[in-house]
Amino acid sequence: MHMLGIAGSIRGASLNRQLLVELQQIVTPAHTLEIAEIADIPHYNTDIDDPNGIITPASVLRLRQQIHQADALVIATPEYNHGIPGVLKNALDWASRPFGKSALIGKPVAVIGGGGASGGIRAQMQLRQVLNGSGMHVLTRPEVALRFADVFKDGQLVDNGARDTLQRMVDALVVWQRKVTST
Ligand code: FNR
Repeated sequence: MHMLGIAGSIRGASLNRQLLVELQQIVTPAHTLEIAEIADIPHYNTDIDDPNGIITPASVLRLRQQIHQADALVIATPEYNHGIPGVLKNALDWASRPFGKSALIGKPVAVIGGGGASGGIRAQMQLRQVLNGSGMHVLTRPEVALRFADVFKDGQLVDNGARDTLQRMVDALVVWQRKVTST
């Protein structure tokens, strides 16, 4: 399975992005996981988007193509003020177009991430709603909402329990991907 990872944080030392890097190591060599770059995507604006992609920014066309080519998405999101970070929602809004022909429609997706005491679960709930609304097939279990203070040390994932949960998530996503794309 070829997965595309999207991190909802664009800071250099993002732990959510690091979670995707750890996941890359976990899935290799059985699967591949490419990590998307969303930092250079501008604010969504219909004035600079068109169905033929002639005026659409190159960073957006790249993301849409990466999504088209992926068998499944894995989105790692932090929680900002009990919700989804704006950069992530913005990237998804771009990805949801052209209307009716979006790369997101019918695509399997898993939501993971972490942050403070709640593990970012409120952002994950919002994100699942947005992904469902975009026509994606959202994996429901296992939930991966990590309290980063417990599982990361010096920017590295040091918790084997978290690693096991990530492995179970990938195993479930493989089954889910086969199920939803065979119908
Ligand atoms: C946060 N953080 C945060 N954490 C949380 O559990 N609930 C929240 O509502 C918020 N709100 C929030 C708002 C803003 C503007 C920032 C910058 C941060 C903390 C945040 O989740 C934590 O720092 C994560 O580690 C950020 O993810 P990355 O950048 O490490 O991937």
